[in-house]
This record gives sequence, C-alpha cells and structure tokens, in this order.
Amino acid sequence: MAENLIEARKITKVYPDGTQALFEVDFAVQAGEVHGLLGENGAGKSTLTKILSGLLSPTSGTILWKGKKVRFGSPREALKAGIGMVHQHFALVGPYTGLENIALGAEGVRILGPVRTRWIGKKVENIMDRSGLRVPLDVPVEDLPVGVQQRLEILKVLVREVELLILDEPTAVLTPQEVDELFSVLRSLASLGKSVVLITHKLREVLEVTDRVTVLRHGKLVTVRPTRETSLEELASSMVGREMPRMRGRTNRSGGKEVLRVENLVVPGVGGKPAVRGVSFSVHEGEILGVAGVQGNGQTELVEAMVGLRPWTGKVELNGKSLAGLGPAQVAALGLAHIPEDRQGMGLILPFSVAENAVLGKLRPFTDRVGGLRWRKIFRSTADLIQRFSVQTSGPRAQARSLSGGNQQRLVVGRELSKAPELLIANQPTRGLDIAATHYIRETLLKLRDEGLALLLISADLDEIFELSDRVAVMYNGTFTGISPVEKLDRERVGLLMGGLTFEEARG
Ligand SMILES: Nc1ncnc2c1ncn2[C@@H]1O[C@H](COP(=O)(O)OP(=O)(O)OP(=O)(O)O)[C@@H](O)[C@H]1O
Ligand SMILES: [Mg+2]
Repeated sequence: MAENLIEARKITKVYPDGTQALFEVDFAVQAGEVHGLLGENGAGKSTLTKILSGLLSPTSGTILWKGKKVRFGSPREALKAGIGMVHQHFALVGPYTGLENIALGAEGVRILGPVRTRWIGKKVENIMDRSGLRVPLDVPVEDLPVGVQQRLEILKVLVREVELLILDEPTAVLTPQEVDELFSVLRSLASLGKSVVLITHKLREVLEVTDRVTVLRHGKLVTVRPTRETSLEELASSMVGREMPRMRGRTNRSGGKEVLRVENLVVPGVGGKPAVRGVSFSVHEGEILGVAGVQGNGQTELVEAMVGLRPWTGKVELNGKSLAGLGPAQVAALGLAHIPEDRQGMGLILPFSVAENAVLGKLRPFTDRVGGLRWRKIFRSTADLIQRFSVQTSGPRAQARSLSGGNQQRLVVGRELSKAPELLIANQPTRGLDIAATHYIRETLLKLRDEGLALLLISADLDEIFELSDRVAVMYNGTFTGISPVEKLDRERVGLLMGGLTFEEARG
C-alpha cells in the first residue's frame, strides 16, 4: 500500500445558509500520484478541496497530513505545510504585474525590495522554462486574457514548491496544446514524488493524466478507482447515476439575412498596440460562426469592442444599424446578448441575489409604470430559469456567490438566452459546465439557431467549435487567418491555423 500524503475522513460541510455540501466524505491522495476529482456541478468538489487547503473548515471530520491530524486555520497555514491550491476563479490583483502577483503570493503582503523581486523573477523564469507555462511577467494582470491569468495562477503556486498541488478546473481556459504542456508538468511533479489533485469535467483528460479518480455525487462519495481500471462511460455514469444522453447529429446551415456586419475592426490593446488588427466578417440569421483560437489572440478585445465595453474603429452594424459610440446598455437594447468569458467579473454581481442577477440587463418587463420593480414577476421568472437550466441553488433569494462555479455559469447562460436576442455573442459558453449541462446548452444553442438566432461563438474548445459551428474563423495575432465552412475543415488543420499558419500553408 502506498502511503497517503493527505487523508480526509468523514468530512461533512454545512454552509451557514444551511446548504449541506458534503456528507461524511472520505478522500485520500497518495504521495506521487495525480488524483482526479470528478462530479457534476454542485457535487462538492470545490468545497472539499477548499477544506483541504485551509480556506474552509469542515463542519465535522478529520484531516491527516502525512499521518498526523491537522487543522489548517487559513490557506497560509496549509501552504506552509506544503499544500497549494489554484482556485476555479482567479484571485489575482488586477493592477499588479504578473511578477508582482507571484511575489505577493510567495511573500504575503510584505512590500518587496527590488533584490527580492529579481530573485523571485529568476526563480519564475526557471519554472517557466521547466514547465513550458509561459506568461508575460511585466504586464498588469487585468490586461491579460483569462487563459493567461490561469497560467499565472498555476505558476504562483508552483513557485512555492508545494508537495500537494490542487487544481480546480485548470484546463477550462487552456488550449489543447497548453493542456498537454500542463499535463506533462503534472506528470513530472508526480515523478518527483509530489501529488496533484485535478478537478475537471473533461473525462478524456482524466483518463490521460490521472492515476486514480474519486467521484462525488450530491456531496457523497460514489467511488475511488485506479484510472486504468475504469472507462469514459463508467466515469460518466457514476457521476450522474445514469447513462448519458448522446448529442444528436447536427445539420449544417447556410444562414439567412445578414444580422451582423463587421468591417476592418481595429481594437487597441495593452499599451496602444492594436489587439484586433482589422477583422472583417458577417453573421447571418440562423447561423453559428465559430471563432477558434488560442486565448490571448484578440478574442477578448474583439468581443468587448462589439458589446460596447471598449473603444474601436472600423464598422460594426447590427441589422444595418451602426454600433459606433454605443455603450453596453444601448447595444443590448438593439438586441445583442452576451455571455462573457468571465462570469464572475462581468456576468454576475456576486453579492446580489440569484433573482436580481437573473434579470440583469433586461429589467423592462419587470418594472411597473412608475419604475418600481415587480418582484412577484421577477421571482416567477427566476424560478422558471432555475428550473429550465437546472440551476442548483437554495432559491431566488440566495446570493449568487453561494452557487458553485458551474451553476453560476448556468445562471448567466440562462439569462442571456432568455432575452430572445437577435444576435448572441457567446464567449466560452460551456466553460466549467458538467457533461449534462454542456450537452443541454449546446443543444439549446443549436435549437435557437434553427429558429433563426445569429450566433457568434468564441471557444478555445475545438470539440465545441466543431459540434456547433456552420462556419469557422480562426483568430491569430489579432486577425482572422481565414473563414471556412466547417465541413471543409478538420481538427488538425484548425490546430495549424491556430498556431499561425495561413489557409494555404495549412492545406499542404
Ligand atoms: N458559500 C456558499 N454558501 C452556500 N452554499 C454554497 C456555498 N458554496 C457552495 N455552496 C453549495 O455547496 C454545494 C457544492 O458546491 P461546490 O462549489 O463544492 O460544487 P462543485 O462540485 O465545485 O461544482 P462546480 O463543478 O459547479 O464547480 C452546491 O450546492 C453549492 O450551491
Ligand atoms: Mg467547483
């Protein structure tokens, strides 16, 4: 029997609002293993790992670290013992550079002298070389795309030389190539005797990189298995307790009238250098245009410009009306809905209730003639949204903050889809969703397309691009390297285009 580095026994967690997230869960990680932690949205994965890393205390149960009973009062105590966690949602300090954020993580809030910073800089360079996880260190992190921020979070913990690294859905924002790189980092950590807990909804990743898996369902332990003795189907059904439905085959469509027209769009990025450098395309009624690409190639800026959050030049027209100079509310009023890539920063107001969040940006039907809010109607509509999109919550009055990551995403997606928009811009719409919810959202997007919705889909997930798009554009270094009907493309070619090759070069 290999030795347990950490062992959690009969962990129960009841949140202050009465939600019971964990019921007497046993969980153990051996030294030198990569351990997958699986379960549907709301199963209790984040709660369990937050307890292991000192962020939450369990309601009852014990934790053994290297065979000794411990109680971590804070993440700092856990980190000191050798446990580091990268959270599902980022905790970076926006105006600080990447290096400053790493230094802060490593040193607490003490102000750093230049010598210390240089020393840490060297160390980070070294870890970037070894791990292949590269990030610019001298840019304020709020200017970095989410995918890059994610890499920075991982580096921040790796620098601490932890013995147990916990990653809560680290791959949700990474490209296939970045995922491969991360996994080779994880394997090499394991071969050095360190341990990793990996939370992910992507079962193929679990099969690829983990040694063992633990599955939770509704806060209870379902099974612990050596990975090689299990299979994709078995894991999927133990997560949901039933067989998974299959995605129905899709038919390609060529769209109807033009809904969105973009010509020579230029969007300034960090330091005035354009992040989008002259992009032209259109999206038609009943059509999904997928934009594939490695995060950080201008997708964020492209979307934020179109929805009125950034200045831009060029031409953007929605149903023939120019969007020049319009802010987010005016753009929304013209029928543009937006699922943002960052659900916590832009999609939701975390301290507000589920009900308030459910009607954000679409208050008109919920106000009476004198501008008062019609709460009965809001609650009814929220209850309907909760039910249709299976949002797990204690109710419309719960704080958005109390929802699990995947359930926050369901709430945002549900709200935007129920606006009955003319054009939907969906940036990573299924990020962090479990298999069943991903399936449901994709089916819903296809159904809305069939009913005439024009959809601009931005996704780093090639499966998603291929399952949904009628046409595919590949974005690289601020431009589209080409737009093509999906049936003329395969994954390999799109992969090459994402790496910067032109259509001509990728054909050969
Ligand atoms: N701060 C909180 N207050 C009340 N309930 C909470 C809080 N945080 C989480 N919960 C609830 O605890 C349960 C487990 O949530 P948790 O975040 O652990 O799920 P998860 O497995 O990480 O899901 P996901 O895949 O969506 O991230 C959910 O029902 C959630 O609504
Ligand atoms: Mg979670």
